[in-house]
Amino acid sequence: MLPCVRWLQTLLAFLTSVSLTLGDNCPTGCLCPDPHTVDCSGKGLTRLPESIPLDVRRLLLSDNWIPRIPSDFLVLYSDLVYLDLRNNSLSRIEPGTLSTSSRLVFLDLGSNNLTEIPKGTFGESRSLIKLRLSNNPYLSMVNEDAFLGLTSLRELELERNALSGLQVGALSQLPSLRMVRLEGNPWVCNCNFANLFAWLMENRHKLPNGVEGMECSLPMDGRRISLSQLSQDSFRECQVTLTLTDLLIIIFSGISVSVVAIMASFFLASTVHCFQRWSKGNKTEEEEGED
Ligand SMILES: *[C@@H]1O[C@H](CO)[C@@H](O)[C@H](O)[C@H]1NC(C)=O
Ligand SMILES: *[C@@H]1O[C@H](CO)[C@@H](O)[C@H](O)[C@H]1NC(C)=O
Repeated sequence: MLPCVRWLQTLLAFLTSVSLTLGDNCPTGCLCPDPHTVDCSGKGLTRLPESIPLDVRRLLLSDNWIPRIPSDFLVLYSDLVYLDLRNNSLSRIEPGTLSTSSRLVFLDLGSNNLTEIPKGTFGESRSLIKLRLSNNPYLSMVNEDAFLGLTSLRELELERNALSGLQVGALSQLPSLRMVRLEGNPWVCNCNFANLFAWLMENRHKLPNGVEGMECSLPMDGRRISLSQLSQDSFRECQVTLTLTDLLIIIFSGISVSVVAIMASFFLASTVHCFQRWSKGNKTEEEEGED
């Protein structure tokens, strides 16, 4: 009897470990409604859960207090299609975190504490279709190449952040973009905004509420106005802005002209001086001759 129980115990332990490695387990406290979904939303987590099945496709982690994702966390979950990290405490996305997420289609990083989206943050996420980055109250910097490589991205949400400006390249580099949300940011319609404004006018159909739904503040008095009250003409004064190269050329040619002028006047002065001395010398010679 006893050996039989022992044998059964061993078998059970073996089966458990096999099922663990095969990924049939569910992280403690989370729900796994189907074999490819792990739902840990609203569980008060202050860190990422352990032992997530390796074949997870939908990972729901919203409404927690997760402050960071180690850059190698997603390496194991190469089947991941849907990642919801909405309403957590993330302050940055480490470079390379998403570099292996080639199947990721949906990513929600809304309602976090992100401050910046640096160049190439989303690495090789070529399948990404929807990216949510809204409601990050300190998000004031989005690099021009932040979304580089997101060739499938159709929907980008950047509303209600702290953006006062955005380089137009960040949006114009997205070949599949159908919808972009930008409202609720403290946009400033100064000359830096002129290029973005031109792009928005051409792509107004991509804004869910049109340009009417977007406001910016005037650089003169901070008054907020709807973008629909502006036209390309409002930015007319900006068209004569000079690039750094232009400025350098102007400064350099200014310096060269002054140097040439100084050299020329010096040459003139010495020539005049020389002539004067020569004529004086001649005179004294003549006077001596007359004597
Ligand atoms: C964000 O998550 C916290 C913690 O779970 C929750 O109390 C709060 O209601 C959530 N906020 C929103 C807007 O869902
Ligand atoms: C969010 O970021 C701000 C500024 O970077 C910081 O002061 C604040 O404590 C952060 N909040 C959380 C919940 O991490």
